[in-house]
Amino acid sequence: MIGAVTTDLALVAVGAAIPARILTNEEISQRVETDDAWIRERTGIGERRIATAEESVTTLAIQAARQAVERGDIAPGSIDLVVAATASPERSFPSIAALVADDIGAHSAGAVDMLAACAGFAYALSYAVGQIAAGFAETVLVIGTETLSRITDWDDRGTCILFGDGAGAVIIKAGAAPDQELVVVELGADGSKGDDLRGDLTDRDGSGVDRNIRMNGSAVYRFATQVIVDSATRVLEAGQRTHSDIDLFVPHQANLRIIESGVKRLGFPPERVLITLDQYGNTSSASIPLCLDHAWRTGRLQPGQRLLMMGLGGGLAWGTCLIRWMGRGA
Ligand code: UT7
Repeated sequence: MIGAVTTDLALVAVGAAIPARILTNEEISQRVETDDAWIRERTGIGERRIATAEESVTTLAIQAARQAVERGDIAPGSIDLVVAATASPERSFPSIAALVADDIGAHSAGAVDMLAACAGFAYALSYAVGQIAAGFAETVLVIGTETLSRITDWDDRGTCILFGDGAGAVIIKAGAAPDQELVVVELGADGSKGDDLRGDLTDRDGSGVDRNIRMNGSAVYRFATQVIVDSATRVLEAGQRTHSDIDLFVPHQANLRIIESGVKRLGFPPERVLITLDQYGNTSSASIPLCLDHAWRTGRLQPGQRLLMMGLGGGLAWGTCLIRWMGRGA
């Protein structure tokens, strides 16, 4: 599906939780047959963060949410809805979102978690856009949070080099932009390719529960290189924009080669593309807000900028959003 709505909603704040523990490529190469040069050349990843035993998808989400609320000077009681996306849930309920809402004092908010793997943040954001555009909500907290290290097979060199932990959160508000313009969302999924990237929660075929991420890397790679171009093109068209109207492109942070080929075909100059996978690896649903947080801290995120953001992966699903940033500078 693809939709465009004329609205004055915008992103107004971002926060992050970045675990302190750094896992380098060298450390991984002590466990599986790989090396730093291969990982950098084939993926662009230099290191990733790993949650400690005390950290969880919930504690990271709370940390990121607290920071977004503080940076945006948001009254927690004014938050109408909390949406948390994750590909590495610890439990079915209570939701991460409900625990975050309680912690930050968003006592009149609805709260729900979303499972759409690496597209989760884009799906959560699109839900927030829809609720605001329909007039059901004015202020929404959207979170992407992951402890992928806990569902990684550390003996599988095809996947263990890729993933990292972390969380990011944004606040999206009605009436934040000075004028109305098109906000665009595309959501897609191709379940026929679902087994190319999966993580089970239960014993689905009677052979024991394998919660670890299982991926057909080259199949997902082909899907990603195509979708990044096709989805971005459709969203720009629906928003009546070209690549030169986009101030910052935030592609899914899975593999630098996928990003570079997509960016080249779409025509974005490299200085308008956000990249953090060299530092954080693939953090699935946390990728987009972690990029925004990095851009905010380094002064690249400025009020009025148009952002084109994309997440893609397990499902195989994808989500792309064209939306404005109206938050304060760092
Ligand atoms: O967030 C969800 C979206 N995820 C993605 O978009 C991930 C998409 N896939 C990828 O990024 C890439 O497919 C990988 C990085 C996972 C793999 O890179 P590749 O260039 O597609 O490698 P490959 O799977 O085609 O394997 C090439 C060779 C193989 O050896 P042989 O059979 O040619 O002898 C692999 O065994 O590279 C080998 N290989 C490795 N070698 C050193 C695979 N992983 C490693 C490794 N270190 N870590």
